[in-house]
Amino acid sequence: MQILENTALKPFHTFGINCNARFLVTIESYTELISFLKTDWNNYPHRMILGGGSNVLFTGDYEGLILRPQIKGIELIEETSETVTVRAMCGEVWDEFVNYTVERGWGGLENLSQIPGNVGACPIQNIGAYGVEVKETIQWVECIELTTLNQVKFWNEECGFDYRNSVFKSSLKGKYLITAVVFKLQKSPALKTKYADVERELEKYEKVDVKSVRAAISAIRWRKLPDPLCIGNAGSFFKNPVISVPHYKEIQEDYPTVPGYPQADAGIKVPAAWLIENACYKGVREGDVGTSPTQPLVIVNYGDATGEEIITFARKIQKQIHEMFGVELEMEVNVV
Ligand code: EPU
Repeated sequence: MQILENTALKPFHTFGINCNARFLVTIESYTELISFLKTDWNNYPHRMILGGGSNVLFTGDYEGLILRPQIKGIELIEETSETVTVRAMCGEVWDEFVNYTVERGWGGLENLSQIPGNVGACPIQNIGAYGVEVKETIQWVECIELTTLNQVKFWNEECGFDYRNSVFKSSLKGKYLITAVVFKLQKSPALKTKYADVERELEKYEKVDVKSVRAAISAIRWRKLPDPLCIGNAGSFFKNPVISVPHYKEIQEDYPTVPGYPQADAGIKVPAAWLIENACYKGVREGDVGTSPTQPLVIVNYGDATGEEIITFARKIQKQIHEMFGVELEMEVNVV
């Protein structure tokens, strides 16, 4: 374990911003993690934990310590005739873990294929795609409380999971380091294929099973979402806003085709991508910043955009959407 000084952050996050960390440490084992947290960690007043770096926007150099937990390991902890309970350590690459489960025919994570990032980050914003959220399979989350170094287990119900949110992103933000996540998966899963894009893509496959669902979703994502290895981005930049029914009806009077998905706890979820496209911001480029031409919810860095330039561009979109539709677009990425 080595604490690097003034290190480029470009290789450690997906937005491809040229910026540095004053200190950066990568930790690969649990013992090393505990010993680091007991000693060095307390010497840094500014510090943050960085997983796969796929949902973060750096607006400048980070003047503190960045800790990258890269602890690997996947363990089957219980098996019944119908289910498996699997622990994945925080540093496992999310999609490699999804692949591991799909290869064994275990169902539950296949719709979450190709989401960038590490396992340790998946509960923080309750990652979701194609009608599935990770909260549906998480049994518990294993953490270390960063002040006491106590090991704490959060049962699913204690995680406060919500759309792109959890206690780890809200009330308990920064207080815990997630070391492992435990999932319960199904041996004979009920597949979720009702999402229109997925249904259409699955027509190309002979059989509908966890493997073809993963293949179909991978194909859709590769088509629509820019690959961060080629063009810097952090996936969805904004959340899909939930607005009141009267507000939705008001928008509908001027824009009869506005899509809307009624939510269980009242309100209507409107795709931010639709709002952005209809505000004429789809595929718009200003310098090295732009919205993706295939999915305008994704803001991309075409080369040397700075974090500040990206934020300025995002604020322009927010202002335009507010003026046109009276809707506040909330950023989904973590701005540092
Ligand atoms: N739309 C447009 N124009 C576009 C693209 C989409 O108007 O160019 C509208 C359409 O009405 C479309 C709707 O937006 O039906 C939904 O589009 P899509 O299915 O692509 O999903 P999304 O709501 O834009 C969310 C997640 C994605 C996830 C997809 C698929 C959020 C913030 N984003 O996007 O997650 O992959 O659903 O389920 O909820 C991520 O979080 O990084 C991410 C990519």
